[in-house]
Amino acid sequence: MLQEAGVYCGHGYDSVTDEAVALVLGATDLPPEQTLALLDQPFPSDAEARLATLLDRRCRQRLPVAYCLGESHLAGLRFIADSRALVPRSPIAHVVAERLSPWWSQGRDPAVIVDVCCGGGSLGLIAAEAFPGATVLLSDLEPQAISLAAENGALHQQLDRVLMLRADLLSAVRSGSADVVLANPPYVSRGEMAELPPEYCHEPRMALEADADGTELAVTLLREAVRVLSPDGLMLLEVGETWVALEKRLPRVPFLWLELPQGGAGVAAISAQELRDWDAAGIL
Ligand SMILES: C[S@@+](CC[C@H](N)C(=O)[O-])C[C@H]1O[C@@H](n2cnc3c(N)ncnc32)[C@H](O)[C@@H]1O
Repeated sequence: MLQEAGVYCGHGYDSVTDEAVALVLGATDLPPEQTLALLDQPFPSDAEARLATLLDRRCRQRLPVAYCLGESHLAGLRFIADSRALVPRSPIAHVVAERLSPWWSQGRDPAVIVDVCCGGGSLGLIAAEAFPGATVLLSDLEPQAISLAAENGALHQQLDRVLMLRADLLSAVRSGSADVVLANPPYVSRGEMAELPPEYCHEPRMALEADADGTELAVTLLREAVRVLSPDGLMLLEVGETWVALEKRLPRVPFLWLELPQGGAGVAAISAQELRDWDAAGIL
């Protein structure tokens, strides 16, 4: 049915089969980790109506699975997901879950982590889980995203050391205060916006759309990170396929694009020292 409807899988699921499993488990209120033994069980009749509603949302309304279910999973954590923020799917998540190895190697855990353009807060909350001693700042310009991030912070019982901030990019972060900046800004170019499958129309436009070539917010973040990172700090920046346009716009910056075992492209790891050098050389 999903295949016939021509749904687009680009929101955390690789195939319609994975999406179908998620919808069936969602209709039956079962968690995602199941054994094959489940296939021998009869499908509960009281879940049939719920499954029909979910399939209608997915196939006719073209809602991403996470919005159909009201939740998503990333790097082993569950998040509340709805149209206040993008469906969590950043490949940065897996690098953070592995404690930023090998990019963070300072012999101490980061004390302050900033998740800028945080959306529903998934990256910062995965960081909070990976670094139990860190203070984490979840920052976004959109109040709706902040409200969802706060709900996710409460879900993970992290609100004692996860703080919410409404701000334009890194403008409100104190100079030299951030050991790690996780940055997943909007980076879809205006031309690409017009071509996106219908699933993306349910996500906040402000979470996706950047400027004409998609690079503007990423470039501003790189420049602002020079100021806010601590001397041995680290920035992870995701720009997806816009990495090509970013290299074109900053041709002398030697970006290191990570090989990501879980898939995804356009994630750079950048040390504070590199940022300072690039800034001093006037190539940022
Ligand atoms: C790609 S989404 C982030 C998704 C999030 N990192 C996640 O993993 O779920 C980009 C976010 O940037 C926010 N945003 C857009 N312009 C901004 C700005 N100038 N300052 C701060 N946040 C901004 C949007 O509201 C949106 O939540």
